[in-house]
Amino acid sequence: MDVRVGVIGLGIGERHLEEYHRLPGVTIAAVADPRTERGERAAARYGAVAYRDGLELLQQAELDAVSICTPPASHRELAVAAAESGRHVLLEKPMAPTPADCDAISEACRRAGVVLLLGFKKRGASPFRYLKERQDDWGFPRVAQVRYQLGPVDKDWFWDEADGGGPLIENTAHVFDMLRYLLGDAERVYAEGGSALAPGRTTVAEAVCTIRFQAGTVVSLAAGAGGSWAYDQSERWVLNYDGLNAELVGPFDAVNSLRTMKRAAGTVETRWWAETSGWPEEMSHFLACIRGEEQPRATGADGKAALEMGLAVKQSVRTGLPVELPRHQ
Ligand SMILES: NC(=O)c1ccc[n+]([C@@H]2O[C@H](COP(=O)([O-])OP(=O)(O)OC[C@H]3O[C@@H](n4cnc5c(N)ncnc54)[C@H](O)[C@@H]3O)[C@@H](O)[C@H]2O)c1
Repeated sequence: MDVRVGVIGLGIGERHLEEYHRLPGVTIAAVADPRTERGERAAARYGAVAYRDGLELLQQAELDAVSICTPPASHRELAVAAAESGRHVLLEKPMAPTPADCDAISEACRRAGVVLLLGFKKRGASPFRYLKERQDDWGFPRVAQVRYQLGPVDKDWFWDEADGGGPLIENTAHVFDMLRYLLGDAERVYAEGGSALAPGRTTVAEAVCTIRFQAGTVVSLAAGAGGSWAYDQSERWVLNYDGLNAELVGPFDAVNSLRTMKRAAGTVETRWWAETSGWPEEMSHFLACIRGEEQPRATGADGKAALEMGLAVKQSVRTGLPVELPRHQ
């Protein structure tokens, strides 16, 4: 029987709809957005029912699962309501504005026995999966450098400290999560930064960070505001393992080219991928989790840990001091 899905929030939620639409065994049953023109357009396109609000959708639609694609301040209320009504949840990053919100969401999903998958699409992207699968052969990752700077964003919720938290929470969440996916939990963060590149929008918009991981890897990360959509829309990851150097580059949020060099042999290999967004894999993985065939590759604990890293970076910038990250078992 088809899995009946609903999508709440039709900004990036439109992308969720496109991906669900491509998958066999999925019926798009409902969409919700207070901007009714968005809802009606999507409902007509996919043969779904349009609602004006996510809670209304959860109360009235017959559904197995939802994508929650609204601004983060609404994630807790919607995700808890979805779980309590027995719906599986694909929740966009950042998980929520506070660690306590994250715990409430995880606990509600655990109690209800529903799947909770965090929208860390990079975990499904081929270049990162390749790195993850191969790096045991390459030795320990000693040092890494990442450049991940966002172009201008003009959405009020994005900058609100009690909602999106600015680019270091809203967007850099993808990098914090990917670093944890590759390197394990972080131990300590020291960052310098400010809001010179987005004056008046938030206290910490851009930062250069040094992050020490529990396993010993040290990462240098330049993130937040600073990019420019039309000019330098690029992302760069350099990882130095005992036996190999790896450099992954490409368009922002779609790195597609990996160059590796074995230290001993000095031989260089280049790899290139055509589809690197991670979106198709995210939705097919969610479906597989719902069917009990796979376990969520990005959990509520991962969502909370990425948020804690972003909060620590901002705290370090504000205080001028290194910040120890909480340890969770
Ligand atoms: N995974 C990714 O790469 C990615 C990309 C973009 C955005 N996001 C995340 O997705 C979320 C939404 O971001 P966006 O860029 O689409 O924002 P957006 O402002 O473009 O769209 C959000 C939509 O949600 C609607 N909405 C707000 N409250 C609602 C409610 N209670 N019920 C139904 N609809 C509601 C708004 O009217 C709006 O149309 C954020 O958490 C953001 O960080 C993730």
